[in-house]
Amino acid sequence: MVARPFIINTDNPTTMSEDDVRRELAALAAEISHHDELYHGQDAPQISDAEYDQIVARNQSLEATFPHLVRADSPNERVGTAILADSMFSKIRHARPMLSLSNGFSDKDIEDFVTRVSKFLSLDVNVSTQFIAEPKIDGLSISLRYKNGQFVEAATRGDGNEGEDVTKNAMQIASLPKQLRGQPPAILEIRGEIYMNRHDFLTLNAAQENAGKKVFANPRNAAAGSLRQKDASITGQRNLQFFAYSMGETSALIADTHWDFLAAISDYGFSVNELSKRCNNVEDLLATYHEINHQRADLPYDIDGVVYKIDRHDYQQRLGQLARAPRWAIAHKFPAEQVETTITAIDVQVGRTGALTPVARLTPVSVGGVIVSNATLHNEDEINRKGIKIGDRVVIQRAGDVIPQVVRVLIDARNGTEQIFTFPDHCPVCNAPTIRPEGEAVRRCSGRLNCAAQLNEGLKHFVSRNAFDIEGLGPRQIEQFISLGWVKAPADIFQLNDKAAEIAALDGFGDLSIKKLLSAIAVRREIGLERFIYALGIRQIGQATARLLALHYGSVETMLAALNPDADLDAAHQALVEIDQIGAAMANDITAFFGNPDLYQLIVDLVAELTILPPERPAENSAISGKTIVFTGTLTRMSRAEAKAKAESLGAKVSGTVSSKTDFLVAGADAGSKARKAADLGITVLDEDGYSALVGNP
Ligand code: IVH
Repeated sequence: MVARPFIINTDNPTTMSEDDVRRELAALAAEISHHDELYHGQDAPQISDAEYDQIVARNQSLEATFPHLVRADSPNERVGTAILADSMFSKIRHARPMLSLSNGFSDKDIEDFVTRVSKFLSLDVNVSTQFIAEPKIDGLSISLRYKNGQFVEAATRGDGNEGEDVTKNAMQIASLPKQLRGQPPAILEIRGEIYMNRHDFLTLNAAQENAGKKVFANPRNAAAGSLRQKDASITGQRNLQFFAYSMGETSALIADTHWDFLAAISDYGFSVNELSKRCNNVEDLLATYHEINHQRADLPYDIDGVVYKIDRHDYQQRLGQLARAPRWAIAHKFPAEQVETTITAIDVQVGRTGALTPVARLTPVSVGGVIVSNATLHNEDEINRKGIKIGDRVVIQRAGDVIPQVVRVLIDARNGTEQIFTFPDHCPVCNAPTIRPEGEAVRRCSGRLNCAAQLNEGLKHFVSRNAFDIEGLGPRQIEQFISLGWVKAPADIFQLNDKAAEIAALDGFGDLSIKKLLSAIAVRREIGLERFIYALGIRQIGQATARLLALHYGSVETMLAALNPDADLDAAHQALVEIDQIGAAMANDITAFFGNPDLYQLIVDLVAELTILPPERPAENSAISGKTIVFTGTLTRMSRAEAKAKAESLGAKVSGTVSSKTDFLVAGADAGSKARKAADLGITVLDEDGYSALVGNP
């Protein structure tokens, strides 16, 4: 498998039009959600961590420049991904959410972080506050619960709110304390990272290979795979390690600072990382980063950065969190590892939307202990931009376990035998002509569902977790049913009843599994409109846009009436772009999809099998939910950032500019032009006290 092509736009956000930003944020949201699912849900990422970080960073920079365009489903609002429906573990709701971390890459990112934190807390700029710097362990996070010092429960992070119950497995891990020393609080949740030493990883992989079993791509995957074993005794044999670095629920205060917290839990018996350091200012933090990076190769385990956390717990509390990550911490990531190798061939793969992705086949090479033999080349332009030829020596980089990217060609190493690669003008799978619309980077196969590759990927998407989520019908079964000719379109899935006897004759199916499969399919005959729309796999239409469309149309009938090939599609297009967060390009893709008579027929056939439920409207439960608020002037009760965070947590949208869409202007001391403009527009202007009273915070 290869990553879908995704080129990170490097346009300067400040010079971009709002429409372009909207479009890009939509594409980024879909992209990030796709990779989150692969990484957290399936332990099977398709892009490197560094690439993922770049996508997230681009999203953040757009959001920071255009706060009013932040999407309802902003990737910043999510942690990990929900647990797969077929998980063999039961679920545990975390007493306190398990968060992720924001990332920084440059010294400037870290300086900005420290400035942001002191501003939020309204600290005197001349007084620096202390931070703890800790290695960022490349493993998987776990929450361990202790009652009266006795280990009782372990949960993975899952989606941050709900994880998997891995208590039995954790019980088998020798390095986890089962009985704490000293006087810990009666209820204590310790969080940290489960990881595998590089040495143990190599030994494990050698043994796996000998036994003809799956080898792990890297120590992180090996740790995750070893923890999530059905047979907990296997977990016990894998020599997993643990570093503790934070807490969940506790019944009593352990310490006033993170530093003292680490000391206290070390006394209880947890391993805490010895490289952790208390730092007095940004210079200290950056020096520690370089020190730790210097030691990186000699450490027995993988680390991928340094985490900085503000030391005082009261400050942590005040800073609070964004939905995805705390404001009081940041991960300073290390740059990706690079090596040289040769491109032996370039293959082209076809994805769900017909996009052609070139893949470089490489002379296998080890990068950080992992052998890689493919690199993604993204698209035609990327090959041209980098001047890549078949036979070239290249520098590649990867930061995780996954397909690396080509950084650059080593031109001086050429000997004249290198060959230019020409992008195919016919699909390598179905031979239909390929088309590259003007202004787009991606060339696509025009074969639609006549192309086996598109049908395959489209149906896999259709049954995936966020779409129809049919238990027992995964990529493997879809491939099998397609190759047998039983499934040619989504509606066919709902006719599989007729094939029960034939399915029973297949390898890997028993009576029970068929019964389960057919009943899982039957259950999904009833489905929400937003899931239905998302499942169609329309280009650019991720879950968030699917929801917008569902809310806009309200029912499948209304949607089909507006969008069928005989309808006034120009009018439908116009109506679509009027929806906040849907731009012209997205509207094009939507009308082109429904306007295609073949695809439309396929949807009609599918609808005939289903009961499609209207979307649920969001609950309106705070005085400011759904309202747009502008803060101006000097606030005395809290900083602007804190006020914004509070308002957003109550469901409001916070904007920087006053317009006719503004519902309330909250004016602090010395409010200037915005207050005048609001008054002119007849917008309700509140002072700080009035606002606090409104949100029930007198
Ligand atoms: S603190 C609210 N500290 O990195 C605090 N996380 O990319 C959240 N990680 O989910 C975590 N080393 O799995 C923290 N010293 C460290 C860490 C660490 C590794 C992981 C953790 C987290 C992920 C975020």
